Amino acid sequence: MTVAPDAPILFFDSGVGGLSILAPARAALPTAPIVYAADSAGFPYGTKSEAEIAARVPALLGRLVERYRPRLAVIACNTASTIALQHVRAALDIPVVGTVPAIKPAALLSKSRVFGVLGTDATVRQPYVDRLAAAHGADCTVLRYGSAALVQLAEAKLRGEALDPDVARDALAGLLDQPGGDQMDMVVLACTHFPLVEAELAAAAPHPMGFVHGGEGIARRIAFLTQGQKWPTTAAPGIAVFTRIDANVDALRPALAGYGLDRLDAL
Ligand code: DGL
Repeated sequence: MTVAPDAPILFFDSGVGGLSILAPARAALPTAPIVYAADSAGFPYGTKSEAEIAARVPALLGRLVERYRPRLAVIACNTASTIALQHVRAALDIPVVGTVPAIKPAALLSKSRVFGVLGTDATVRQPYVDRLAAAHGADCTVLRYGSAALVQLAEAKLRGEALDPDVARDALAGLLDQPGGDQMDMVVLACTHFPLVEAELAAAAPHPMGFVHGGEGIARRIAFLTQGQKWPTTAAPGIAVFTRIDANVDALRPALAGYGLDRLDAL
């Protein structure tokens, strides 16, 4: 099937986290039309049950695909991907790229063989994470910690608010205070919100450690899956679509514009 040049790529997250996935994708495909969808009415996902996420995410993606007719959808959220990726793929007839914790690169890079997985509460308890840890980090101590506060910190940062430095410190302490934690040399940012506060995490780290996430790999995957397709010759303004528009969303406008998202829609 021929894909129209103006058919967008759809990115989906509960909030602004997916912007950390959008940024490397835009760098790789600068004229790709973008629709960035945030489920602000369902935010946050990390404290929800598996059943709630498995019901909500495929239904929303179905409505978004109907409205915007994307060529490809990216679930730019680890929580939604580790729980609902298969359900979304079953519901849509376009390629769907998921975001799963970058455990493989962390295991390759860790010299101490102790690394952390920092995600949402919902992500770090997923069997998907057990499988990735067993497949790639069998000789490693894999520490896990869920932080809902760090998700809020990333949202506040993009709204331009003053940030509480204790939040990043406490999130890292959740890993460092576990047995073996003092040896930890790598941290998987297993929530797409967390690369947005990587500088705050690095500043709060008591010893040097590396941070890894899947953004670059996803950009390569999108480029591969859209190989040979046509794109517009110049970049058009991107669309940000929210399931609820309120004062918090309004405060995000300048940050969204920085990612090329100049139009705001309500779903
Ligand atoms: N950005 C999301 C993730 O990657 C979820 C954040 C949330 O809504 O709790 O897991």
